[in-house]
Amino acid sequence: MSATPEALPSFPPDFLWGVSTSAHQIEGAVDGRARSVWDDFAAEPGRIRDGSTADTACDHVARYREDVALMRDLGVDAYRFSVSWPRVLAPGGLDFYDRLVDELCAQGIRPVPTLFHWDLPSEIEAAGGWLDRDTASRFAAHTETVAARLGDRVQKWITLNEPAEHTLLGHALGEHAPGHKLLFDALPAAHHQLLAHGLAARVLRAAGATDIGIANSHGPTWPASDGPADTEAADLYDLILNRLFSDPLLLGRYPDGFGDLMPGDVAADLKVISEDTLDWYGINFYQPTKAGAPTADDVEFSGVTLPAGLPFSLQPIEGYPTTDFGWPVVPDAFADLLTAFRDRYGDRLPPLVITENGCAYEGLDDQERIAYLDGHLRALHRAMAAGVDVRGYFVWSLLDNFEWAEGYTKRFGLVHVDYATQKRTPKASYGWLRDALRAQRA
Ligand code: NOJ
Repeated sequence: MSATPEALPSFPPDFLWGVSTSAHQIEGAVDGRARSVWDDFAAEPGRIRDGSTADTACDHVARYREDVALMRDLGVDAYRFSVSWPRVLAPGGLDFYDRLVDELCAQGIRPVPTLFHWDLPSEIEAAGGWLDRDTASRFAAHTETVAARLGDRVQKWITLNEPAEHTLLGHALGEHAPGHKLLFDALPAAHHQLLAHGLAARVLRAAGATDIGIANSHGPTWPASDGPADTEAADLYDLILNRLFSDPLLLGRYPDGFGDLMPGDVAADLKVISEDTLDWYGINFYQPTKAGAPTADDVEFSGVTLPAGLPFSLQPIEGYPTTDFGWPVVPDAFADLLTAFRDRYGDRLPPLVITENGCAYEGLDDQERIAYLDGHLRALHRAMAAGVDVRGYFVWSLLDNFEWAEGYTKRFGLVHVDYATQKRTPKASYGWLRDALRAQRA
């Protein structure tokens, strides 16, 4: 029996339905690629909750045909995956993506590669990583290599995944690779990722691309109270999550005060970042966040340590169901986010694509995941009915996978992976989505 028997409302016939993954989280085949910051990070004791690495992960490089068959049977139109920069650096590394793209095309599934999903090659980190401006040019060269090889079959490109989270968790708080705890001194990593997006978009345009996007995480920020200390702190957190990356991309400027904190010729860079670099904007949505005034001590929040001295604190949201990550399930917040985006950027906002949405739950009979996806798709439909132009929706994720600092302890898949045997077992949510997609097309 399904938790939500009522059919979903109808989405437009050309709406793009897909599933998402990323290279480091599923590929394995560590011997076929250069080292990345995530290999180095996972080798440090205590960094990954279950002490695991992504050396094997879902063994997807060996099993990609089986995984593409799962997508075909699910009935999705598109597959968002990432191209591992460390694999591209290894001799013959691009061959895998050639085979993957061929297989997708053979099964009628549109390939949607992301060119950077957090696995920076260690050698580039050693040269300064995202704190160094040259990483942006190196990323443009990586983009050129990938586009030259796959561009005959790929139309839809994503430059970067979640530069905001990569800056915050990887460079400001040290909870993700490369593990820097720079707080506001992490801002150059934000600027250089944005510049990397701009330079990569130029490369893709030169190669004839007309369907370029970026994927960033967004969500409404709820102030902990109406008091000025909480609302001011919540505004700052909201700015970092919801404007620091999208304002430069969509408006060609940083939020007030932030441009001065960025390195280099910021005015010239903002042109590269914003001029003709996006045909659509990708939103990864998971949950709203409650933010308030800073606390005197370090705070543990959702597996992350927020150090004392941050200008805001994050607090649990009560009164809603939560996922295995402790994230509150609030579909209305998804609709609110989308309408707020439309209201903020108006005519400057290109069409949106939901590049990730999903949740962590254990078990094969994952009725909670069905309820989460059902609720968020209905919220998405409401936002679209209210005039927000959204062209597609990708579930995170096809498979259970290596969930970064959480290792294998959080399961986001529509398909269960037994990591000991690599057996794939579709969960109840997989069957639910397959039926929902069939109903959309009936
Ligand atoms: C966002 C990231 O892009 C993805 O890699 C991650 O697994 C999901 N969120 C879930 O946390």
